[in-house]
Amino acid sequence: MEETIVSKKRMLSGIKPSGDLTLGSYLGAIKNWKERADEFECYYFMADLHAITVRQNPADLRRRTMEQLAQYIACGLDPEKNTLFIQSHVHQHAELGWVLNCYAMFGELSRMTQFKDKSAKNADNINGGLFTYPSLMAADILLYQPDYVPVGEDQKQHVELTHTIARRFNSVYGDVFKLPEPYIPKVGARVMSLTNPTAKMSKSENEDTGRILLMDSPEQIMRQFKRAVTDSETCVRFDKENKPGVSNLMTIYAACTGKTFEEIEREFDGQGYGAFKPAVGEAVVETLRPIREEARRLLADKAYLQDVCRKGAERAGYAAEKTLRKVYKKVGFAAR
Ligand code: TRP
Repeated sequence: MEETIVSKKRMLSGIKPSGDLTLGSYLGAIKNWKERADEFECYYFMADLHAITVRQNPADLRRRTMEQLAQYIACGLDPEKNTLFIQSHVHQHAELGWVLNCYAMFGELSRMTQFKDKSAKNADNINGGLFTYPSLMAADILLYQPDYVPVGEDQKQHVELTHTIARRFNSVYGDVFKLPEPYIPKVGARVMSLTNPTAKMSKSENEDTGRILLMDSPEQIMRQFKRAVTDSETCVRFDKENKPGVSNLMTIYAACTGKTFEEIEREFDGQGYGAFKPAVGEAVVETLRPIREEARRLLADKAYLQDVCRKGAERAGYAAEKTLRKVYKKVGFAAR
């Protein structure tokens, strides 16, 4: 029997190891990635080059990078099926990042909302890397010629700028880069802070209230959910505008249990938040338990993790090098 070989579509994404992974990272990103492994050829990386645009404690950065790798795997990203790697292990990122800096305009970079936000938050360290962050991100993406880039809403602008840069480059040198689509999943795309439900649950935030980390104990998780902000009504109803806290809890509950909003409204009809909040907590505890346990087990096996990131970097480097060679030739760098 003849077999048809259909080349799979490619997908790529990264997360900065600038904070510990949260429930938001899992429900909003990683959980969706793992469902793509058979359908797509996937590349996922720890964006440590991006992390240093904000000052990091070196020991923490190193620890978090390895933890993140262990957590990716524990969340179900099989390193045999997915290419998992550490950004700084694949030198082509920094190299293409430099080239693309020369094709990203000052005005474009100045208009990025993330740059404006971070400049406001780190007024004493508005460094060049923070400013050119999107050129490096464009390099991360374009090196691999992916079809899709799964990102959160807040990164869409960077993917759009990637398009602009790629189009500009292609218009001068021909079709070098493929233009990828951002891929924003519908369910659980945006998990908000439990104490400030109009802001995203952030891993970089210092205060530990309002967020759930993948490695939190069941007691910590339950405590956070009992403290979650709701509203002065008592009914469990989805209304993002007027009931952001409750709607966020419903989003989390739906993502953990697979129930629809209508089913959840019916389940807690007449019961008030006293029953609802701990139920959400329990669902989260059960969702995260196997992940935490598996991540712990993997972290104890340093040789295995090192093997995974070595193989990942090799595979990624191979794909990245192809694109980089082409780019170097096109812009006129002399052959080695
Ligand atoms: N900027 C992304 C974030 O802060 C992380 C990232 C870096 C990324 N490079 C990327 C995401 C390339 C997707 C593709 O979340």
